[in-house]
Amino acid sequence: MPRIPDEIIQQIAAANDIVDVIGGYFPLKKVSGPNFRALCPFHREKTPSFNVNQARQAYHCFGCGANGTVFRFVMEYESTDFVSAARKLAERAGIRIEMTEFSAEEEGRSKLRRRLLALHQQAADWFHYNLLKTEGAQPARDYLKGRGFTSEVAKAWKIGYAPDAWDALSGWAVSQGFTREEIRQSGLVSSREEGGGDFYDRFRGRVMFPICNDQGEVIAFSGRVLDADAKAAKYVNSPETMLFTKGNVLFGLHKSKRPLIDKRVAIVLEGQIDLISAFEAGIQNVIAPQGTAFTEKQAHILKRYVEEVVLCFDSDTAGQKAADRSLPSLLGENLSVRVAALPAGDDPDSLIRKKGAEAFTALIDGAKDFFDYQIARAAAAPDFATPRGRMQFARRMAAWVSLITDSMLREAVSNKVATRLEISMQEFVKLLKRPQASQTREEQPKGAESAAPLQLDPVGANLVLVALTDAGARTWLLQQEWKELLSSEPEMDLLAKVLALDITPGDSAGLNSWLATLPGNEEAGIRRILERGVLPLSLPSRHDAVSIRPEETVGKSWHPLKTAQDAWCFLQQRQIKRRLDSINAILKAPETTQKEALELQKEILDLQRRLTDIARPFSPNPDQE
Ligand code: CTP
Ligand code: MN
Repeated sequence: MPRIPDEIIQQIAAANDIVDVIGGYFPLKKVSGPNFRALCPFHREKTPSFNVNQARQAYHCFGCGANGTVFRFVMEYESTDFVSAARKLAERAGIRIEMTEFSAEEEGRSKLRRRLLALHQQAADWFHYNLLKTEGAQPARDYLKGRGFTSEVAKAWKIGYAPDAWDALSGWAVSQGFTREEIRQSGLVSSREEGGGDFYDRFRGRVMFPICNDQGEVIAFSGRVLDADAKAAKYVNSPETMLFTKGNVLFGLHKSKRPLIDKRVAIVLEGQIDLISAFEAGIQNVIAPQGTAFTEKQAHILKRYVEEVVLCFDSDTAGQKAADRSLPSLLGENLSVRVAALPAGDDPDSLIRKKGAEAFTALIDGAKDFFDYQIARAAAAPDFATPRGRMQFARRMAAWVSLITDSMLREAVSNKVATRLEISMQEFVKLLKRPQASQTREEQPKGAESAAPLQLDPVGANLVLVALTDAGARTWLLQQEWKELLSSEPEMDLLAKVLALDITPGDSAGLNSWLATLPGNEEAGIRRILERGVLPLSLPSRHDAVSIRPEETVGKSWHPLKTAQDAWCFLQQRQIKRRLDSINAILKAPETTQKEALELQKEILDLQRRLTDIARPFSPNPDQE
């Protein structure tokens, strides 16, 4: 894994204000002082408990415990690794990562990318302006009106119109200062010959739908002809460009993210018209792969927001094929899949227009589980009545079920299918392909699986805290017999990791890059510790334990070394007391011999002596180390 130098990480962190970055994904509401709030993007909730603290440059969800810095946020939100997240943030701030890797070529690409984004943004505005204001767009306005799209809807989705000319867009773009190369790379034009040269507008006389990435940046367009009988293709889309990979984009996601999280279900529609209709009718947990089968990447993105999808494709054969071909990627992400059966001849848009949003909602609510749907379809066929026909069908079902990687889910589904087919579970399981190693998704982004922070008891938490934040305390701890002591302590692995780490307290870049290598729950555990500060220890002895409450540590001076020593004492004492308890138990046991008892008595005395030693303060004033 390429390592990004700490000072660069520091630079990236400094240049990316967490409020700006997260605010770029979804709106944050300022609550008080440095605090901003929103509904948590990582779990489903009705009242916002996702907190972003600008002063601390950290986020924390009080609901699900998700927390971290801007790096962790991007990693989690984009399901990506630390290096990619850092690259993304670096690019956002115009910082170069690693001279060696960030070649002139890469730098050129990064600049081109920014230019292409600007061109798309401005072109969307220009198409939109054309639609609303120019005379030539009257047919387009009429067309949209005829389909029930008001000007509010056109505004909300920045629908536009591409003039019916060969050079309107390209002429405009040149006048805006875009180079011919930039215009060519944007895909907004087509070349007359292979490999460049002269070009002409790709979109002519079409209603233009901007296609956005999940941050709402325009990255491509889809243009529809006005005249359905025209010989030209009904839709023309941007080609794949540096900005746009069709199979990675879900149309509408930038607007439907929140509704998806709230509902936990995504209604999958075929195209933009259906999606806009549904969204504007108030059914907002919608996305569209735009006329193609779901790709693995799209399924993976969707899985961040929902557990279940309802496929709502046209009832024509193209729609049914797209539904069938979407299954492997959806089941592969362990999404539950339901299928809504549209009346023949209707698509979601026409249904909503004719019968209203309620009819559409009823259709979605009544959508059958994919497997039930298949069984119902097959059951209508005559050969389903024969054992042979049923077995054949079972085999087909088994191929679907084999795609589910989650073993619990696979078992539940198998059970259901076997029952419906009236065959035994064993018989059905025999038909399943074993999940191959390559099929199990080990490359799952780390952290996604466990937002719940690892809990350490207050002793461990305090030690982790000081070992990471105070050089003096860390040095002192490293001088203790920590390996020995920790090896016999349950649940102190994380502390051992922290102590074994080569890190200088205060080096937050180093800390962040190390945290990013940990499993998500461990990172979350440590972040929580760093955020909470020192915890009170309640030692049931004369030992005067740390009694600072967490809130009192904020902004007040505390003694890291004393905290370390107190916690260390506590740990030693606890270990000794545990040993004493077990010795006492052994002494009471009838099979213990006299000789053994004698040895144990000696050990008790020894342990008690150590206990008193430990209870003594280390130095009169630990601050003067
Ligand atoms: N599509 C495409 N290219 C085509 C046909 C379709 O990219 N030649 C995509 C579009 O995103 C379209 C979706 O597939 O929205 C669904 O196709 P279709 O049902 O034909 O279009 P509708 O969205 O229903 O558009 P309309 O209602 O205007 O026919
Ligand atoms: Mn359609």
